[in-house]
Amino acid sequence: MARYRIAAIGGDGIGPEVVGEALRVLDVVADVLGFGCGVERFPWGCGYYESHGHMMPGDAIELLSRFDAIYLGAVGMPSVVPEEVALRGVVLAIRFGFDQFANVRPVKPLAGAPYPLARPDASEIDFVVVREATEGMYLGLGGRYPADAPEVAEIAGLRAVFGRSRELAVQTGVYSEAGCRRIMERAFRLAEERGRLGQVTSATKANAMGHGMTLWNDVFDEVARGHRDVKAEWQNVDALAMRFVARPETLDVVVAPNLFGDILTDLSASLLGGLGFAPSANLTDGHWPSMFEPCHGSAPDIAGQGIANPTAALLTLAMMLEDLGEEAAARAVEAGVRKVVAEGRVRTPDMGGAASTAEMGEAVAEAAAGLAAQG
Ligand code: NAI
Ligand code: MG
Repeated sequence: MARYRIAAIGGDGIGPEVVGEALRVLDVVADVLGFGCGVERFPWGCGYYESHGHMMPGDAIELLSRFDAIYLGAVGMPSVVPEEVALRGVVLAIRFGFDQFANVRPVKPLAGAPYPLARPDASEIDFVVVREATEGMYLGLGGRYPADAPEVAEIAGLRAVFGRSRELAVQTGVYSEAGCRRIMERAFRLAEERGRLGQVTSATKANAMGHGMTLWNDVFDEVARGHRDVKAEWQNVDALAMRFVARPETLDVVVAPNLFGDILTDLSASLLGGLGFAPSANLTDGHWPSMFEPCHGSAPDIAGQGIANPTAALLTLAMMLEDLGEEAAARAVEAGVRKVVAEGRVRTPDMGGAASTAEMGEAVAEAAAGLAAQG
């Protein structure tokens, strides 16, 4: 009997609410299919910060390194902990700590979910965004400086308005050749495996970001030459954002730098029916545990009411099970979610219903258990 060690971090707001449902479904499916999961929960996040002064203990990365996978809800409580402290203290610390460079976000609308477009038909949309998640603009390099600080002496002269400013902030994006290469290789391999359009679209912006994005483009051309079976194309991120809405059916795999991928995937979440439907995985090269987390945040506006949609978290669970090699379980969970959403009997408020997070979780647990038992 396989036994996986799973570290569960509920986090803040709706995080623990949706994680609770995912663990409920995991329990049921593991039981039916006969594999074991040792789940350990960690109480890290903004509440932990209030009593300890930091979001996670100093040895958190070491503790987590003993697990096969990390399952995270969401962190952030802007009224309690500054935004830049909260996200960096957990999500980015784990992504960077385990070099989880591949943030994989599938965009495949579920029948029955709210769908905002007149065309194309939701069933025509099936693409995946592969976002670089360890470098680029989210590295955290730079600083805030008085305009007369020696660190910004050269920069302050660049524009008249800089010279009239009290303060300058510098946010440095770093793009590495090997970092671009590994995320692009991952994207091309995924396009080959998916066998849908056999296409990778690179999100770029070399016309305005002539250093980072020309390196990105050069590596993309090189990697593309190693995968002649896949159609490689690039598009500037602004135009690509429009295509996400106007012609999403023409996308297959999209590879994007960190910042662009973050923004594009909240946009693509709306094609799925909202953030309550968008799953996500942060994958390593296999040496360290990967982390699985829905795309959404802690949703303070609906936290504590038990009305969050757990669909994103449950589809995220399916991604974790697939990564662990439990394919039958992954299929049962995904199919269970699809069944419940398509039937439309149990719908959370974001779907126009009145069901609770737990009712939705229970319905999926029952459906997934039934499907798992059928094999
Ligand atoms: P958010 O994703 O928490 O919420 C945006 C909107 O979507 C809200 O109206 C919310 O109610 C709705 N929503 C999100 N998930 C939902 C669900 N499962 N069911 C129903 N509705 C849902 O983004 P927001 O408001 O920008 O951020 C809130 C906090 O979360 C901030 O502190 C932010 O930094 C943090 N955050 C954390 C992330 C993480 O831990 N990975 C990712 C994104 C934001
Ligand atoms: Mg985001």
